[in-house]
Amino acid sequence: MKFQAITDNFQEANVDALAVAVFKDENTGSGILKDLNELIGGHIASIIKSEEFKGESGDTAYFLFESKGKNKANRLLLVGAGDRADYKTSDVGVVAGTAARNLRKRNVKSFALAPRFDGDSLDVATNAAAGVVASQFELDKYKSSDKNDKKIDTFALYIEGGREKDLKDALTRGEIIGDSMNFARDLANEPPNVLHPTEMAKRAEKMAKEVGLKCEILDEGKMEKLGMGSLLSVTKGSAQPAKFIILRYEPKKSTGKKGELLALVGKGITFDTGGISIKPSEGMDAMKYDMSGGATVIGTMRAIGLLKPTVPVLGIVAAVENMPGSAATRPSDIVTASNGKTVEILNTDAEGRLVLADAVVYAEKQGATRIVDMATLTGAVIIALGDLHTAVLGNDQELVDEIIECGADVGENFWQLPIGKEYSKMIKSDIADIKNIGGGRKAGTIIGAVFIEEFIKDAKWAHLDIAGTAWADDAKPHRSKGPTAIAIRTLLKLVEKSQ
Ligand code: BES
Ligand code: ZN
Ligand code: ZN
Repeated sequence: MKFQAITDNFQEANVDALAVAVFKDENTGSGILKDLNELIGGHIASIIKSEEFKGESGDTAYFLFESKGKNKANRLLLVGAGDRADYKTSDVGVVAGTAARNLRKRNVKSFALAPRFDGDSLDVATNAAAGVVASQFELDKYKSSDKNDKKIDTFALYIEGGREKDLKDALTRGEIIGDSMNFARDLANEPPNVLHPTEMAKRAEKMAKEVGLKCEILDEGKMEKLGMGSLLSVTKGSAQPAKFIILRYEPKKSTGKKGELLALVGKGITFDTGGISIKPSEGMDAMKYDMSGGATVIGTMRAIGLLKPTVPVLGIVAAVENMPGSAATRPSDIVTASNGKTVEILNTDAEGRLVLADAVVYAEKQGATRIVDMATLTGAVIIALGDLHTAVLGNDQELVDEIIECGADVGENFWQLPIGKEYSKMIKSDIADIKNIGGGRKAGTIIGAVFIEEFIKDAKWAHLDIAGTAWADDAKPHRSKGPTAIAIRTLLKLVEKSQ
């Protein structure tokens, strides 16, 4: 896709279509809406009055008109932007994505958007480009017909009086973010017969080469040497060998505090049958997305490799398939993790925490001082928060607050759940140090988190349970259904702010 910044003469943009953000309760008395209304013969005023288009987020209205004079475009799309007072930079991404999806369906190849945002224009450009790119993701990779072959090839962003060169760079940053989200979504969408741990590792390796990250893959032999008995217990029932993926970004010149290292750690269960504690068959197919935390890490690291922030970041994915083969771990087995703790496995379906245990120990041994782990860890979080908020829990309130703030900046919602001694007591085992489930169904998401906490030594740590937010059951005007690449933008903001 080509990106352009235009800073004057919006109507004369050399594109097929113009798109403009329209707020609730607007009129066409002045400014850009007045000009556009005149351009298309008064139809904007009519449609606003008719109440057919209210300017709510997701609303659209489309017009064909006769272009005159220097104007090239002959289509106009109004895109609802909601209340003007609530309009944030992240909403620009939604507006841009809504326009791009709508216009693509109409076979429009190029469009210019007037986002009508008064704040930081570079942030607007980044959000707009990311929104456009992410909006183009479709689930049709494995269709041999009915494929979406319509493509937007040019996106022009109109910022009155902006500086073209700076805007162009900001658009490129947005393109990187959108592409990296789509890269992660492609991983999460892959069927588990294609994307087993070995393939996930291969894709991470190839990506790392392309964007200049260091990549190391540990095989089961290496993991055994490192004493990762907790992680390895999950792979025992699978014919697919587990892979431990390590991605490193090191800036040429670091501006971060000396000795500080942020690690992103992802659950990469390429398929979760539940193991011997097998899941019911209904809905089991959804468990191909159980590597979404890992996909988020890989997608975020891809963007980091290209955006080149001035702080180092370590990315780790524990890629494992959870199957009930004859060598599978049994409920009541006891294993030893790489920090020496013994774990009584009472439910083999609580496997995400088992792989993350050894992954966070490894991260800290590599020098991580802040660890953020991502995992589709519990069904309980879906009951608690649905698909609207990602749960965040952690041992450092500052880090948790930062994640919530970064999320608000980029339009991703987080909600904190508590942890604490009383919860930790619930995973004490009668015969080992800890067990991998609590008693009964109480506080499922918290129990998952406090289990992982047992493996954190000194690091500041936050855990994101993305089980409810990593997959969208329905499409929205600005994005397809399916994998959402949740948390990539938040983590990139976190990295940006730690520079
Ligand atoms: N991958 C699942 C979590 C999950 C379940 C995500 C349903 C989306 C929908 C995880 O490995 C799991 O099975 N967790 C169990 C934990 C329980 C056995 C303590 C769960 O949530 O039921
Ligand atoms: Zn499970
Ligand atoms: Zn799982």
